[in-house]
Amino acid sequence: MKRFRRYRIQDALRVSIRENTLKKEDLITPVFVIEGENVKTATEAMPELYRYSLDRLSEELETLRGLGLFKIILFGVPKVKDAVGSQAYAEDGIVQEAIRVIKKFDARFYVITDICLCQYTDHGHCGVIDLMGEVENDRSVELISQIALSHAKAGADMVAPSDMMDGRIAGIRNILDENGYNYLPIMAYSLKYCSNYYGPFRAIADSKPQFGSRDHYQMDYHNSRGAGDVAREDIAQGADLVMVKPAMIYLDIVSKIREAVNVPVVVYNVSGEYALLSQGIKSGMVNESIIYETMIGFKRAGADLIITYFSKELVEKWL
Ligand code: PBG
Ligand code: ZN
Repeated sequence: MKRFRRYRIQDALRVSIRENTLKKEDLITPVFVIEGENVKTATEAMPELYRYSLDRLSEELETLRGLGLFKIILFGVPKVKDAVGSQAYAEDGIVQEAIRVIKKFDARFYVITDICLCQYTDHGHCGVIDLMGEVENDRSVELISQIALSHAKAGADMVAPSDMMDGRIAGIRNILDENGYNYLPIMAYSLKYCSNYYGPFRAIADSKPQFGSRDHYQMDYHNSRGAGDVAREDIAQGADLVMVKPAMIYLDIVSKIREAVNVPVVVYNVSGEYALLSQGIKSGMVNESIIYETMIGFKRAGADLIITYFSKELVEKWL
């Protein structure tokens, strides 16, 4: 009789033949910076996730450095918003300044920047609005490209456009290359679904749309068939890594993309997923090891890198 338990009955073999493991180099930590002084504030939605003003950012950087978590993805919360999100591509914008602060603090930090307009527009959409009230694609791509260039100039190591306009990857690649940033990689939020799981993030980043929803540009979660085409198109335009977002109930998409392309695949374990797991653990209904198991699930589905709000806890408890 084939006895499958022969693989598991002794730990020495069971542990050594594991197909998937997690290491701290797989993790990317979101960091939120906010304009102002002496600010370290959380929101009700996520009491443990802080937004730091630049004069207090070192508190978070110290912690991350102590844990060996050097890969971060940076989000900015500006003071001033307008119709075209000017602060997103301002030379002295919050993210541009933060990049300089972080690099000065410790150049080992690998700074990925989220590229989008929604935190910076007064209407809260990821692009500019035309006369019909619709997000205007090509004009938005021009601004998105400007954001990428301004982050590159400030010293970002990688840019990650999350806006979901068509043609944005080509727009960004062109402007970066024209300005000599040929070696700056692009991580495309390629498979970004219009999801209810972004709720807590929108409170933290203050990026809730003031009218309508994002369903005219983010992907429709009823579908999966075209996922490979979308990833291949982004790669053709110049994406170096592709992302699937959210992660936990999108593992079918992750494994599809893993099959469809050969570039590194990233998953974003988003704020709503973090909130649900945290609440479940806090209430005592589930064991905290579900965090580690969830990460392994991402790896098994084919993820190379994981953006997660659990990175510090993972290193402290499991890695
Ligand atoms: C902005 C952006 C969002 C997230 C990352 N970048 C929110 C959105 O598209 O509304 C979500 C991250 C999370 O929920 O943790 N374009
Ligand atoms: Zn956006």
